[in-house]
Amino acid sequence: MLHTANPRASYLALKTEIDAAIQAVLQGSSYVLGPLVEDFERRFADYIGVGHGIGVNSGSDALHLALRGLGVGPGDEVITVSHTAVATVAAIEMAGAAPVLVDVDPDWRTIDPAAVEAHIGPATRAVVAVHLYGHPARLDALRELCTRRGLLLLEDCAQAHGARWGDRRTGSGGDAGVFSFYPTKNLGGVGDGGMVVTQDDALAQRIRRLRQYGWDTPQQSLVPGWNTRLDTLQAAVLAVKLAHLDAQNNARRQLAAGYGEGLRDLPLRLPAEQAGCHPVYHLYVVETEDGPTREALRAHLLAANIAAGIHYPTPVHRQPAYAGRLRCGPLPVTERLAATVLSLPLYPELEPGEQALVIDGIRAFFRGRR
Ligand SMILES: Cc1ncc(COP(=O)(O)O)c(C=O)c1O
Repeated sequence: MLHTANPRASYLALKTEIDAAIQAVLQGSSYVLGPLVEDFERRFADYIGVGHGIGVNSGSDALHLALRGLGVGPGDEVITVSHTAVATVAAIEMAGAAPVLVDVDPDWRTIDPAAVEAHIGPATRAVVAVHLYGHPARLDALRELCTRRGLLLLEDCAQAHGARWGDRRTGSGGDAGVFSFYPTKNLGGVGDGGMVVTQDDALAQRIRRLRQYGWDTPQQSLVPGWNTRLDTLQAAVLAVKLAHLDAQNNARRQLAAGYGEGLRDLPLRLPAEQAGCHPVYHLYVVETEDGPTREALRAHLLAANIAAGIHYPTPVHRQPAYAGRLRCGPLPVTERLAATVLSLPLYPELEPGEQALVIDGIRAFFRGRR
């Protein structure tokens, strides 16, 4: 069965290096944080082009801590999208703030700056821009808007390690950027992990304190904090993989071009690369004409052992945990995407023959409907 992601293939491709890195941790003296984590934080921050990286134990925690570190909390509103992983919205509530959900731009499939502007109110403190599917959100417009309206800008880069807009990497364009190292991500560990990156020295210090009991030095809690540290084992694996990230992202981009070529004349909307953007195809997401076609195509592929995914079938504002109690804008694009998106298998180790099977399967589906 082909899936949209394959973390085991990612391990096997780098097995010798990863096994050695894991052994070195097991034989070493620290299993949580320590010099290896510091080294990885330094390298990742350099890669993104910012001054600080703070390793934590998930992307959700990275979002939560970044918001807390930025001083966002009870009484504040944070504008983001409903068309995202639930963690984006959950983290805003974990910080004590109220999420306000707005629509995405139909071409970018990321937060619509005009919708943000329309929903700014007296309690608005921050905007969380999600670089969904590996494509940057409209950072230039968002930065201009946030500066003009005095709002904080947080980038959710959980799906966009290495993506660029202009000559900058996502994660370096706002007050802070947050990453997930969940195993299926473009840079994924062998368990949970995450990082906050920022240019702001004081913010980095506040987040370092928050991730470990409020400590600057052991046993002295300067602020109320807790424990969300990055494991040394994860940092060791991630450091190995970071050296291969650009090559792997290029492999993803080539596969995306292969889908673009193989599917271009079909009644499918394919992902577009917006001017000045260099997406990294965390997911390759096509849109069908309507919901029933998506379901029929998905079933057709499944019968051919191809498990296409849906990101996301139920937008956050309609999930039972959130329905009816969040402030939302009109969300027509979000609703349409929830009904029509389909994520095709795409990961750096996907073989050309496997990709051809997916393309042939999709072409056969549409031939059968003529
Ligand atoms: C856009 C987005 N934000 C946040 C997260 C949360 O990351 P994690 O699963 O590491 O908590 C994810 C991953 O699931 C994600 O895709």
